[in-house]
Amino acid sequence: MQRTLIKDTLNKIGETVTLFGFAETKRDHGKVTFIDLRDRTGKIQIVGYKMLSEVKTESVLEVVGEVKARPEKQINPELITGTVELDVKEYKILGSAQDLPILVEGDGLEMNEEVRLKYRYLDLRRARLTKNIRLRSNFVRALRDALYEQDFVEIETPILSQTTKEGARDFLVPSRLQPGTFYALPQSPQQYKQLLMASGFERYFQVARCFRDEDLRADRLLELTQLDLEMSYVFEPQEVMQTVEAIVKKAVQAVGGKLQKADFPVINYQEAMEKYGADRFDLRTEQEKKDGVLAFAWVVNFPFFKKVDRSDAAEVLDGKSGWTFTHNPFSAALPEDQADWLAGKNIAGLRAAQYDLVCNGYEVGGGSIRAHTREALMATYKIMGYTEAEVEASVGHLLRAFDLGTPPHGGLALGLDRLLMVLTGEESIKEVVAFPTTGSGKTAVMDGPSAVADEQLAELGLTRKAL
Ligand code: AMO
Repeated sequence: MQRTLIKDTLNKIGETVTLFGFAETKRDHGKVTFIDLRDRTGKIQIVGYKMLSEVKTESVLEVVGEVKARPEKQINPELITGTVELDVKEYKILGSAQDLPILVEGDGLEMNEEVRLKYRYLDLRRARLTKNIRLRSNFVRALRDALYEQDFVEIETPILSQTTKEGARDFLVPSRLQPGTFYALPQSPQQYKQLLMASGFERYFQVARCFRDEDLRADRLLELTQLDLEMSYVFEPQEVMQTVEAIVKKAVQAVGGKLQKADFPVINYQEAMEKYGADRFDLRTEQEKKDGVLAFAWVVNFPFFKKVDRSDAAEVLDGKSGWTFTHNPFSAALPEDQADWLAGKNIAGLRAAQYDLVCNGYEVGGGSIRAHTREALMATYKIMGYTEAEVEASVGHLLRAFDLGTPPHGGLALGLDRLLMVLTGEESIKEVVAFPTTGSGKTAVMDGPSAVADEQLAELGLTRKAL
């Protein structure tokens, strides 16, 4: 028995074929039963005379039958196989489905999120979600292809890492081998990718999982994926921006996205704040919104430092002098501001060599030209009020790598989930992730986070505190 894919039935009129798939809708007319059978390539109407009646929807079938042309007036333009149907000779139920806890028809947006995510594998059978996840795969593939063409090397960096300052709370993992100590899950591969520049790879990328213990919003995840990249021997933001823009355009076009402009406009931070009141903005007209157009733009010339927000505990910790970084501490200042930066002067006026990519009102990426010498990284931390000993304790490993010869470098990370949300026109970032957490951080399908046994805690040198 050789399997025929449903899309290929069109060319097999008169032949007997074997199909596999899910039984979608069923219409039972007594003697004759119609089912739309669905596989990864499409749907076909299968017709059973005095059979199929027992089949429950969403069961998995193997069906043998003859492909027949449909009479003119029964042609269904909604199906890719609408001109044919399968006259079933015999079938087997390979996986029988009980009553479904959630409907697989429709877009599912009105349904309760907890239930949808508990049965996410069923939810993913929904046409809208299947399409989103497939588009995601094609998009990532196109990004990869474009990066390989540009001589980038794909390198994985550790997930068990050390707590770092990247603006969000860390997820911590207790160590069994060194009781009382903790790994942190990376908020991004930032420091490792800079170290790869010290290793001489020159062009790195990674489809990188990042973890941030943040309060959730429609465009935020606890576990996000970045398309992370870094390049050596780049000196000005424009060099990285041009490389990224070319790659993004290729990938967007590969999945049929419509770009508003052939070249992404570049807008000053100051101008954006004055014009739009925010550093992420939507440049589309009402008509373009309806047409699903993507309006990308770069934002540049960000202030390097800002006054510490006294109500933000992390900022108070980071900015001991009353100043803290706006994006991250690893950036360089713009070339014309470097003398002041290294001298710790004119702090409010210093601009970082930082660039953000926005699309349709969302920040979908960000990066910078980095500090690549001890003196430069120290300058940033000194402005924030750190002593040399404190900087050593925090990023001493980077300083040592810089002392051992690190090329000038810069890079960027795209928020892949967020960019895909914009590309697919979804309102929530979860609609482009296979197994996202709920709004309260519960894992899809499985019951994480969950309590663990005392023995497991003891092994980790942890004790349970009475709550
Ligand atoms: P940044 O923190 O700006 O930069 O992150 C890059 C992009 O990732 C996306 N993003 C998120 N998406 C979903 N959920 C979240 N919680 C979340 N947080 C961020 C955004 C953002 O633009 N290491 C630097 C990059 C660099 O400088 O190269 C970094 O992580 O779209």
